Amino acid sequence: MIIQNRRLPRIIGQILRRCHRQAVESNARKDNLTAYFGKWPETEQTEFRQHMRLITDFISEPEEQQLHEEIEPYMSRLRYEFDHWDDAIHGFRETERKKWFPKNREILERVRQVAFDGAIMPYVHILDLAPDGVIKPHVDSTRYCGNTISGISLLSDSVMRLVRTDEQRYQQQSSGSATEPTAQGSEPDAAYRHQPEVPLGNNFYADILLPRRSLYIMSHTARYNFTHEILAKEHSQFQGTLVPRTRRISIICRNEP
Ligand code: OGA
Ligand code: MN
Repeated sequence: MIIQNRRLPRIIGQILRRCHRQAVESNARKDNLTAYFGKWPETEQTEFRQHMRLITDFISEPEEQQLHEEIEPYMSRLRYEFDHWDDAIHGFRETERKKWFPKNREILERVRQVAFDGAIMPYVHILDLAPDGVIKPHVDSTRYCGNTISGISLLSDSVMRLVRTDEQRYQQQSSGSATEPTAQGSEPDAAYRHQPEVPLGNNFYADILLPRRSLYIMSHTARYNFTHEILAKEHSQFQGTLVPRTRRISIICRNEP
């Protein structure tokens, strides 16, 4: 299409105004989906906003269905695990998948483009949380996962809570790149998820409403200096309103450490 020169400035102006309006609207929507608690130092909150991103309606309803259809035949044969009391996750089944139907591969490529600087790990993690399942507060081990974790939520809304951890104890640098957290100075252990004790009372934290079909992107400070968790059904509230938790499947991409 050839656009005549004299119309160009007006068209560019229209495009810029539309982009601006969309950016403002999307920020407002996102802010409505994050509730901050406790005393946040301003710089921390600014950094957190940059490094914990949420894109609502990242996938359409048909896309959600086509992802679900690919996963379900395998997933439905697994049993939900509830037994290990010291594990970070209860009431879940999980798998990793490398080969995807082309249309779902396209969605993952979209995730890679918006969420990651470079490549993602070839095995994508799929976590299926039962209606009464819970992800307790933890930090993903820096041994197995790089600076960015992204998740698409399928089937259910949920509330993710991120609580500031003790930087000293975790030996994480606030700038992003981090060393392996060690338990009381001992050698790094092999756990996929570390579960520090972080009492809410002394910490500042944020609750994020993760709508079904959204994508969250947790990186740098949000990934290293905060625990994350998915609230159990009985605590699943956002700003005083119950967020009903049904079965939730998340499709999680990570990059290499
Ligand atoms: C995890 C995790 C979050 C999610 O598997 O370590 O934190 O969105 N999952 O399911
Ligand atoms: Mn995690």
